[in-house]
Amino acid sequence: MKSLIQQAIVFVCFTTLAYGLQNGLARTPPMGWLSWERFRCNTDCDNHPDSCISENLYMAMADRLVEDGYRDAGYEYVNIDDCWSNKTRDENGNLNPDSKRFPSGMKALADYMHKKGLKLGIYGDFGSKTCAGYPGSLNYLEKDANRFAEWGIDMFKMDGCNVDISLMKKGYPEMGQYLNATGRPILFSCSWPDYERGKGIPIDYQSVASHCNIWRNFVDIQDSWDSVLKIIDYQANITDQWGPVVGPGNFSDPDMLIIGDYSLSVSQSQAQMAMWAILAAPLLMSNDLRTISPEFREILLNKEVIQVNQDPLGIMGKRVLQIKETEVWLKRLQFWDEWAIVMFNRGSTNATITLRLADIGFDYMLGYELRDLFKHVEIGHVERFTQKEYTIPATGVLMAYAYPSE
Ligand code: GLA
Repeated sequence: MKSLIQQAIVFVCFTTLAYGLQNGLARTPPMGWLSWERFRCNTDCDNHPDSCISENLYMAMADRLVEDGYRDAGYEYVNIDDCWSNKTRDENGNLNPDSKRFPSGMKALADYMHKKGLKLGIYGDFGSKTCAGYPGSLNYLEKDANRFAEWGIDMFKMDGCNVDISLMKKGYPEMGQYLNATGRPILFSCSWPDYERGKGIPIDYQSVASHCNIWRNFVDIQDSWDSVLKIIDYQANITDQWGPVVGPGNFSDPDMLIIGDYSLSVSQSQAQMAMWAILAAPLLMSNDLRTISPEFREILLNKEVIQVNQDPLGIMGKRVLQIKETEVWLKRLQFWDEWAIVMFNRGSTNATITLRLADIGFDYMLGYELRDLFKHVEIGHVERFTQKEYTIPATGVLMAYAYPSE
């Protein structure tokens, strides 16, 4: 017979497992593609056959992810957002994709992704309707979780329109449990804390992290540099709250990458990529991979920057210095005394940052070696007490990897 202590251990393990979202996913920030920012709720396939929300769009993006090297760089999720379903549930209360736009059905689309070594994500809403007015999951959480699992879905983004926000603290964990109970590993992306933020409801950071793999922390990104700046500013203010609960399994989501869309310049795109990497943010692109130009593709495929984002410790970097229009951000990496540094210039002319590594906490006696992660060249040896000048492009970054000198 088991001793009382053994029984107690079994009980504690079981209840922790049953309580939190223990799906083993998102050990590093998830990477992939998501339709919303670029393709929105365009359901008019007669007039826009190539850009309407349809199986063709997701299959076309999947093909590009594979053929143009994105999948091999880590971008594996192809995520459907709002406007994929019929306007009403069927007579059994089930969600179904719009049959004109998804004639092969969701299972076939998931199979298509899986055969290519990709994963399929889907979108829903905790409320009675999604933000664009399609059926929501309120009162259907378990049914929808099971439906997604049957289809072979790999990620579920649950939005929070059209519902009493005070119900989210209970409802999101419940959905996490239903997803868990399907037995299929489904990465859970929650919009919950962003809705609470919007309403001024105090966020329980620990609870969000134990029930969600990733969570939106702020307003929707738009295709503009101003929007990116606003998001970066907000991130700077929340790293102290979210940082402690970010790590393997749990990442805070500042929303999609808009690199390769209409508004960001090359240096602004480098800035978004660098900041998302240093924040350990999910890298979910929303762009048209069929027409993206090579300079943007190169930024999205930058292996050294991706490596910072995907560092196994999963630490959320933070802002450590702010001088006029420039900022310095820092993220600790897995090996002893190795760091990613982003020097960020918000200004519209080039700027110089004069920095002593000792002032941002670098204390190794022999100094550090720095490498520029966008130019792919060594910056060279830097003593910790030496003042050094770095030139940062207008509305852009210098991103460096720093490691101890021998
Ligand atoms: C909300 C979300 C967006 C997108 C739309 C879809 O605004 O924050 O990311 O999913 O809904 O309607």
